[in-house]
Amino acid sequence: MRDTLFHQSPLWLGISGLLIILLAFRTVWLRVSNSKTRSSISVPAPRKELQSEFSVDSYDQIDPLEEFDLDNEEPLKIRPFKDKYYLTMGIENIAANDLIVMDKTYLARINLRKHLINTHTSDVLAYNPIITPAVTEYYTYLLTIYLPRRFPTIYTLHPTTLFNTTTNTHIPLTPPSTAAALRILGENIDTDFLFLLPTPLPPSSGKEGSKYTLQGFITCFPSGFATLSKLNLSLADIHAPVPGYAEKLERSMDKFFAALPAGRIVRRCNWGVTTDDRLFAMSGNHMSEDELRDRRTHNGKEEEEEEEEVFDVKDCVLRIERQTLHRLPRTGAVVFAFKTYQYPLGDIVDEGNGEALAKAIEGLGEGNVPGMKVYKREVVWGERVKRFLRGEAGGE
Ligand code: HEM
Repeated sequence: MRDTLFHQSPLWLGISGLLIILLAFRTVWLRVSNSKTRSSISVPAPRKELQSEFSVDSYDQIDPLEEFDLDNEEPLKIRPFKDKYYLTMGIENIAANDLIVMDKTYLARINLRKHLINTHTSDVLAYNPIITPAVTEYYTYLLTIYLPRRFPTIYTLHPTTLFNTTTNTHIPLTPPSTAAALRILGENIDTDFLFLLPTPLPPSSGKEGSKYTLQGFITCFPSGFATLSKLNLSLADIHAPVPGYAEKLERSMDKFFAALPAGRIVRRCNWGVTTDDRLFAMSGNHMSEDELRDRRTHNGKEEEEEEEEVFDVKDCVLRIERQTLHRLPRTGAVVFAFKTYQYPLGDIVDEGNGEALAKAIEGLGEGNVPGMKVYKREVVWGERVKRFLRGEAGGE
């Protein structure tokens, strides 16, 4: 009775009210400080005029492809080549719907990816521990939101797993480790993923600020580079072999990366011709001026003579990457992703694009970076591929 009276007294009500306010204050403070430690990276807010266009909510606005029939879905036909090659960023905005593209090559690709992950593990998968929160963030998003919503005929959500109906496997919704998360992404999605973080410039640079560096990847289909050799490198150093990058792209790329708001997703495509159809190519698809000089000296060739190399033009393919870039809203990391397409040259001729591609090959040395002709090894395959595309003698 005494207790009941005390509980109803104004003094008790005052004390308990104060306690409730203190508890609420502590909860809010903990949330704020947790979110600060979770991500020490400041995520650029969308510029005022872009705020309505790019919102992090767009990552959740995924339209299901209810009738999607994987076995009959043709690969996209991407034809990004132009008469002259101009090195530009060449990006366009896309909706979150279009982050991942799937087609009937899926199962064959996935089997190859699994094989590569098992046999070339450190070539295709590597990371620094600092990237763990970003990998977990993207893994969780793809498995719990994007894939089951976008491709319900392929991925179905269960209480603790995502079921892949095509490979008949259950994928854990919580990644057991960062390595496992990267492996699972690589084994279930025919897309390569690279994670970048802003890294403070060293005091020795004499400058303030940060630059984006590669901190983790699952990349089964590199086109002529060893991804592991790019780990920890800045965008400029990653692109060191690309002629014209420093003069034509570096500044705009650095600005773009620094300002990219979460919610804005962009796509770009590159193209090249390769003399074989190896999807996993750690070398061979590019050439440097030094390498060309050495080859010519070694073979006793004149400057403008065609480089000789044994290959069958019928084995050549047009290789295209559909690349996407976007920022993860929580950790602020940038994800660079690409899906690789290969088209036999005969298909390009059959669809009536033979002359357009032949012109684009001629245009490699006529744009703003003539060095692209050597970098893309046009000096090796150019003449024979053009003759094939134009149906001329000597191109068979
Ligand atoms: C808008 C963003 C980007 C642009 C405009 C761009 C542009 C280019 C271009 C023009 C090439 C030459 C390839 C060719 O056409 O044959 C290239 C190569 C390459 N890019 Fe990018 N790139 C971008 C983002 C990235 C990112 C984020 C990464 C990795 C984290 C990356 C990794 C590479 C690599 C590894 C190569 C091959 C370099 C070599 O030959 O060793 N790129 N990039």
